[in-house]
Amino acid sequence: AVDVRHLLADTGLVAFDPSFGSTASCRSSITYIDGDAGVLLYRGYPIEALAERSTYLEVAYLLLFGELPSAAQLRTFVHDITYHTMVHEQISRFYGAFPKDSHPMAVLLGVVGALSAFYPDSTDVFDEDQRLISVYRLLAKMPTIAAMAHKNSIGQPFVYPLNRLEYSENFLHMMFSVPAEPYEMNPVFAKALNALLIIQADHEQNASTSTVRTVGSSRANPFACIAAGIASLWGPLHGGANEAVLTMLQEIGTRERIPEFIAKAKDRNDPFRLMGFGHRVYRSYDPRAKVMQKICDELLSELGDGDDPLLALARDLEKSVLADDYFAERKLYPNVDYYSGIVMRALNIPTAMFTPIFAVARTAGWLAQWTEMIQDPEQRISRPRQLYTGPLRRDYVPLDQRP
Ligand code: ACO
Repeated sequence: AVDVRHLLADTGLVAFDPSFGSTASCRSSITYIDGDAGVLLYRGYPIEALAERSTYLEVAYLLLFGELPSAAQLRTFVHDITYHTMVHEQISRFYGAFPKDSHPMAVLLGVVGALSAFYPDSTDVFDEDQRLISVYRLLAKMPTIAAMAHKNSIGQPFVYPLNRLEYSENFLHMMFSVPAEPYEMNPVFAKALNALLIIQADHEQNASTSTVRTVGSSRANPFACIAAGIASLWGPLHGGANEAVLTMLQEIGTRERIPEFIAKAKDRNDPFRLMGFGHRVYRSYDPRAKVMQKICDELLSELGDGDDPLLALARDLEKSVLADDYFAERKLYPNVDYYSGIVMRALNIPTAMFTPIFAVARTAGWLAQWTEMIQDPEQRISRPRQLYTGPLRRDYVPLDQRP
């Protein structure tokens, strides 16, 4: 039994809500989710329409400022962002100090955390202009930093941003160009990456966004807050799942082995879970997974690669899962990560870069949520309470008298 006497004396009343599944930690007007109906809206706009018709920077503007930009506002915004895409030359030296086989998430985490040392002129969270510059800096530099982590891991020279390119195109350029051979832009690839970035741009109070808000609530600078978000996103139950899905599909290997893995996932004594299935909020099909599935089909058919064996395996696995009572009873459906890994594979993105790209996408949401939090007069420092389960007061026992 838990002794809560001291806590009740202290607070009068406390809600026990481990992992905050039933606690609204803030008011927010950014993202709306209806988990039962499978609906996701950014500032009221359905995710499907945005993924089909917007650019990532247009969506970032929407998340940050609450409205879709006019043509002139978008031009200015894109200009301001592209102005900040380069990183300080000294930052490049960091990369050389990491072991060459470092996971790019480790590098991203370290470099973004260090940005406040390079840009101390935009760390005052009470100054509106400084806040805006740091938001622009982070949005602009995240793709550069992520692509540099990739280049570093494969021993190729860094590729500088080419600011006449659109955001997603620029990222592909920095990932895949080599000095002797600039990347030949494939508009189908750029469109798919743009949609991928849009659908992952925000998702209300998920683990990494709550982390950004919690860290920001102590008035830590935005670079530190985004680094904390990256750390939270890294785990396989959150952003790391897209990488884990691909590893799992490769491990399953053939259609014949699907029942074996489903049985493992259902076995309560086995910690194995089917990666890419289930969601804390969606109790029906994740709307982002539907968009991804469509993009996946378009991408692979345009490339004449519609018979990717991993995609076929993914479809078979999905069918088997949807037909199984265990998953139906628990309302476990494919989530965004299930097809996003296959899309990124078709874009030739190495598996280790899947989660860094998720971080690039989520930066718009993290920054919008951080800005909203900082401006919210109701926001105090995050400080959950606990139900203490340890012993109450005990007398100290000197070392020589302990058993
Ligand atoms: N495979 C097998 N069983 C599962 C799975 C799964 N992928 N997900 C949940 N379950 C089962 C649980 O074992 C539990 O069963 P029980 O009631 O018999 O104990 C039941 O479904 C409920 O699961 P919870 O863990 O309570 O659900 P929760 O909301 O806490 O977890 C989570 C959500 C972490 C996403 C979980 O479904 C999971 O681990 N999925 C696989 C990892 C994954 O794909 N993560 C990406 C999430 S999306 C994102 O971050 C963008």
